Amino acid sequence: MQSLTVTIIGSGYVGLTTGVCLAELGHTVICSDNDESKVRLLASGGCPIYEPGLPELMRKNAQRLSYTADIADAVRRADIIFVAVGTPSTPSGAPDMSYVERVARTIALAMNSYKLVVEKSTVPVQTAEWMKRTIARYDKAGTPFDVASNPEFLREGTAVQDFLKPDRIVLGVESDRARDLLLRLYAPIDAPKVVVDIKSAELIKHASNSFLAMKISFINAVATICELTGADIDEVVQGMGYDRRIGKDFLRAGVGYGGSCFPKDVDAFIWLAGTLNYDFALLKSVRDINREQRDRFFKKIEDALWVLKGKTVAVLGIAFKANTDDIREAPALDIMRRLLDAGACVRAYDPQAMDHARAQIPQAEYCASPYEAMQGADCAVIMTEWEEIRSLDLDRAVRALAHPIVVDGRNLFDPAEMKRRGFDYRSIGRGHAR
Ligand code: UDX
Repeated sequence: MQSLTVTIIGSGYVGLTTGVCLAELGHTVICSDNDESKVRLLASGGCPIYEPGLPELMRKNAQRLSYTADIADAVRRADIIFVAVGTPSTPSGAPDMSYVERVARTIALAMNSYKLVVEKSTVPVQTAEWMKRTIARYDKAGTPFDVASNPEFLREGTAVQDFLKPDRIVLGVESDRARDLLLRLYAPIDAPKVVVDIKSAELIKHASNSFLAMKISFINAVATICELTGADIDEVVQGMGYDRRIGKDFLRAGVGYGGSCFPKDVDAFIWLAGTLNYDFALLKSVRDINREQRDRFFKKIEDALWVLKGKTVAVLGIAFKANTDDIREAPALDIMRRLLDAGACVRAYDPQAMDHARAQIPQAEYCASPYEAMQGADCAVIMTEWEEIRSLDLDRAVRALAHPIVVDGRNLFDPAEMKRRGFDYRSIGRGHAR
């Protein structure tokens, strides 16, 4: 394989993972970011995010990786430029595109030879067109370039694996040159390469994430029906999942989805549809069910404790899911705030996310272990499916808690077993158990 020189603009979660994995494929990669302290940390061998396997790959490919805050210089040295800057939500649901726009201008002013500019951030359909127009407007020298879309489908916690062994690679291009460069870039990866037009590539990303969010809200709605009828969500999912058209994945009922992608992407897709005069009512319901799921979960805690004022609640897990320190849109934050507002004392534990959580909710007490959090607490609330929590020593837990009440937002335990051990155990969608 002929290796390429790739510049990544925006060394956040997506950008850094992409850059490090492209270096693993044999390419020379320059990770750039305007945050100089982050660049210094990366250059000194540090990794600013918690992502299993990433630090090891950074060390392994150190020869092919470099880090810089000089974005213009990084642009000049590249064959391919990936744009992986943030597109945060604004109150209307529209993503804030100002970072992407600024990067497009920087590229236009710096480029000195043909460049392929690839959008990697999740962006509304038609963004590539805007990037193209912006680059062309500021590209006074008329340097040739192409724009392409290569959406990412990385899950936090398994991002390295997702990158190197993906289900598919989506390439949105409008020239043979761009297509050939991207096929060369990804040649070492054995996966279907779906080459489409740019707008379709942009839509694939929105549609995929929204569909997955829809699966979660759907199963959470079914879990509610299970609770109301006395059926069991685990059994329902088992019966559904064998149908290959439905599949077993993404049907875990729980406290609802969080994270940096699903809530933002669902909002953005609803917004985008609205701008095209299409009312995406289905997705609005997906969002509503996700919100209600948190309300319903909080009500379960209230039902278990009656009065929350003066009670001590152990919150086990804060991250929006296991194997990440990310707390963006984490259901746990919402529940912790509501507990504190109701006058409860919150003692929280998470294997990775406590520093981030402390910065946002300093009123909670942060503990060194799940057992310390549960010591003398009136109830334990499970918010994240960490292996450490799944494999809790239940005898120790029952001894630590003042009252053996567990409200489980992730269905980690078997209700019958918990009952046998003396717990008052409440989970999601197991109607016959409660
Ligand atoms: C997601 C997409 O999976 C990924 O393809 C995309 O590029 C980025 O967004 P991520 O946010 O890292 O990845 O996490 P994911 O594993 O998809 O989980 C998202 C949320 O859904 C989490 O809060 C998780 O707890 C929740 N979830 C997931 C469920 O509640 N039930 C499930 O069955 C699956």
